[in-house]
Amino acid sequence: MSENQKKYNVAIAGATGAVGGAMLDVLDRRDFPLKELRLLASERSVGKKLLFRGEEIEVQLLSKDAFKDIDIALFSAGATRSFDYAPAAAAAGAVVIDNSSAYRMDPDVPLVIPEVNPHAIAQYTNRGIIANPNCSTIQMLVALKPILDKVGIKRLVISTYQAVSGTGAKAIEELDSQVKAYAAGKSMDASVYPHQIAFNCLPHIDSFLENGYTKEEMKMVNETRKIFEDDSIGITATTVRVPVFYGHSESVNIETKSKITAAEVKELLSSAPGVKLVDNTDDLKYPMAIDCAGEFETLVGRIREDESIDNGINLWVVSDNILKGAALNAVQIAETFIAEYK
Ligand code: A2P
Repeated sequence: MSENQKKYNVAIAGATGAVGGAMLDVLDRRDFPLKELRLLASERSVGKKLLFRGEEIEVQLLSKDAFKDIDIALFSAGATRSFDYAPAAAAAGAVVIDNSSAYRMDPDVPLVIPEVNPHAIAQYTNRGIIANPNCSTIQMLVALKPILDKVGIKRLVISTYQAVSGTGAKAIEELDSQVKAYAAGKSMDASVYPHQIAFNCLPHIDSFLENGYTKEEMKMVNETRKIFEDDSIGITATTVRVPVFYGHSESVNIETKSKITAAEVKELLSSAPGVKLVDNTDDLKYPMAIDCAGEFETLVGRIREDESIDNGINLWVVSDNILKGAALNAVQIAETFIAEYK
């Protein structure tokens, strides 16, 4: 950050949560040009102090009056809070970057991944709100964008293996305490998830809908179409919660419009923004959740042709769901916003 660079007042709504904490970390790691950092959460956290760049900042109450003089408000306190407070933040003059699902499918609100559709940020003027996509969608589209641009995409078949941190701080504690209870030969309590998550896989993320899919699965369908600006892409997803703390993994089967070889996909992804190619099976190198924690890049590997169809490619895509899936993407939107529009 240079001395005479313009600096901004930033608020984090939900600063005490899993994503809020990562937002603090990302602002620091990326040397974001900050003037004031205002930390907001519920009454439970008021007065609590969080450390940022060696300084203690006291948490204040998230309220409609909390956004005076704020330039950018990063929201990650759940959809209800976004519905309740984001319009007030926008009315106070802030641009809201909302990590919840509240406004993602609102036609007036841009849904943005900076590596994929930065141009959409221009629509922030409609409501003063920019939506951050769902974590599973973000990492998948970072990997798919170069393929879309090169050969087009007809259909996607996705299975996800999603970490508990996507549910929030309480779910991290639940997995931890179940593993410890198991090791101590005690019974395991489940309250965040409807079933035991330790040593288990739950084919159930978010609530079930009438069509038999979960909301999480339909987020992947609808958000992908919105971001790629193409409702004709066929998409079917199965989203699964697995006993991993950080890092979502995804199997993505792509039917492209014209032929592309696995070697060409590797070449494309080796220089794609936000992607790190990890694909050397001779050395047993492939993306793994334990390697992505704390990383800004999305890891892609196991690239191979789907031999059951003419134009098919398989990918294994792994990313830190709290970083690229949430906090990092939000801060990147803020960076693009200040560079292009402020
Ligand atoms: P608090 O810690 O005060 O409850 P996570 O997704 O990790 O569970 O984090 C949720 C975040 O949203 C936390 O910062 C939490 O603050 C905040 N939050 C939850 N409910 C409210 C509320 N009613 N008003 C303001 N902030 C809230």
